[in-house]
Amino acid sequence: MFISIDKEIGISTFLPTYETDKLLPIIGSKRLVTDQLQMVFSHLFPRPKNKVFVDPFCGSGSVSRKARMMGFKVIANELLPFLYETNKLYLTQSEDDLQKMFHLHGGVDAYISMLNYEGHYASEQHNLPHPYISRYYAPKSDHSYNPDQERLFFTPRNARFIDAVRHEFERSFEEGSITEDEKRVLLVALLYEVTRKANTSGNFSSFNRTLNTQRSRIHKLMTLSVPTLSEGSLVPSEMYLGDANEFVTHHPADIIYLDPPSQVQQISSAYHLLHTITVWDGYTPSQKLNEKGALREKGGIRSDWRDYYSEYCSLQHADRALINLLNNCDARHIVLSYPENGIVSPDRLLELLSLRDKHVQVLPLYRPNSGGIQTPRGNKRIENLYITGKAENFSLTTDESLERITLFNRLDHLLGFTFTLQGDISPLTLIGSVVIDPQLPIQQLLSLPLSEFEQLITLLETNIVKDDDYSFSLLVDALDTPSLLLRERRFINRKIDHLVRHSTSNTLTSLIENLSSSSLKQRLTTLIQHQQKH
Ligand SMILES: C[S@@+](CC[C@H](N)C(=O)[O-])C[C@H]1O[C@@H](n2cnc3c(N)ncnc32)[C@H](O)[C@@H]1O
Repeated sequence: MFISIDKEIGISTFLPTYETDKLLPIIGSKRLVTDQLQMVFSHLFPRPKNKVFVDPFCGSGSVSRKARMMGFKVIANELLPFLYETNKLYLTQSEDDLQKMFHLHGGVDAYISMLNYEGHYASEQHNLPHPYISRYYAPKSDHSYNPDQERLFFTPRNARFIDAVRHEFERSFEEGSITEDEKRVLLVALLYEVTRKANTSGNFSSFNRTLNTQRSRIHKLMTLSVPTLSEGSLVPSEMYLGDANEFVTHHPADIIYLDPPSQVQQISSAYHLLHTITVWDGYTPSQKLNEKGALREKGGIRSDWRDYYSEYCSLQHADRALINLLNNCDARHIVLSYPENGIVSPDRLLELLSLRDKHVQVLPLYRPNSGGIQTPRGNKRIENLYITGKAENFSLTTDESLERITLFNRLDHLLGFTFTLQGDISPLTLIGSVVIDPQLPIQQLLSLPLSEFEQLITLLETNIVKDDDYSFSLLVDALDTPSLLLRERRFINRKIDHLVRHSTSNTLTSLIENLSSSSLKQRLTTLIQHQQKH
């Protein structure tokens, strides 16, 4: 899903969705092209319910989450522990599971508020009992620092936040007051904040040499937020940690989606700090200076990154790894994603795939324009999809298909809002007349005439509710809809909670005080009290 925040529309009532929540922006992530992939997958399996979708190089999990939302049973795998942890949470735990967690601590909101409080308090202290990130990966002061002798990955305050929060939940885990699943929720929320507030240009190989940048994001104090997990109604999925080539031998699939790395940069060294924060083993980077008085190991990259070495990033070994992988896949369709300028050439890929299957189609994937409403024009080809197996010929390259992708992008963005709408928006449906049902009727949308699809999206865009108080009232009223299913009721309740957590409106409290439902009033009052206390 591609999120474009339109200034006209505003973001106050935009709520994260399962598909986009806390996706880590790793190299090679497909988060911008999941709509195009969805079109391909639904051509291969118009009725994906319970079909097995295997994702051995799952990365951020953007494609696996999309496949789950389509109805596939997802079986995913990843080499790196920090990505495994993230996907383990999003693919195997539901919103219901989350609501049952931290019951010894008053629930997930209460626990995360407490951690934020501790982190914010620590960020102001200069003598932390357990400095680690603040000692090795951030300067001592915001104002006077030496980028040759100190690492500038974070502002000092954010480094202290990470130290305090990470230390606290490890301690709670070790003394048995939180479970492994609960610890994972906190870790994933922290990893996401770390990527958002890091003083880097993408990955952790190096940092920017100054903290005096225009980028206000790095100066904002970190604050953890509660993940948005899936509805319980999605097909349960599985997540594994290990080497893809070994993993595929045990997991037959209806579709296997292969998205191996294709460039020489090793992901494990590029994201060493996310690994360190995950394993929290206190690895000490060398602080030695060279003859010029500068740190010898600028990035402080862990010396054991090679334990997670990927053959796919090697000019010498990538071809061999790919042959071995393709030989071991047991799948009706292989969908391989690979850029034209990757280590293995397009001709070679075609040759290898054709040895497996005589039907191989190649489709380009396009990067949507960033910002604002999408238009197909100016879209850049970013990589190719190679699809094996007999399938009806399809194309993503016609103007028609590109426009449809654009419309899917716009629709994805709309899933986070509430609406005031009269009339028919079929084939979409509104839950409680105010929010779009996120279980989209993909096949119907694919066959809807383009002009009708466009009209539908425009209608929705012009009926977004921009005011948080109004949005809150609509959501609360929607709970009274008699025909609401249990899953729909839960969905609306989650939207309400999220709005209460994130809204900047000063008048929401009085709306809550005036609620007629005492249970809802009590739940939201507690939520607000936690927010205020911390
Ligand atoms: C191109 S990225 C996948 C991106 C993913 N589809 C997404 O949307 O975020 C490749 C991923 O494969 C992982 N990887 C590299 N070598 C691997 C191996 N041998 N086994 C399993 N995963 C591996 C990397 O850690 C990285 O996360």
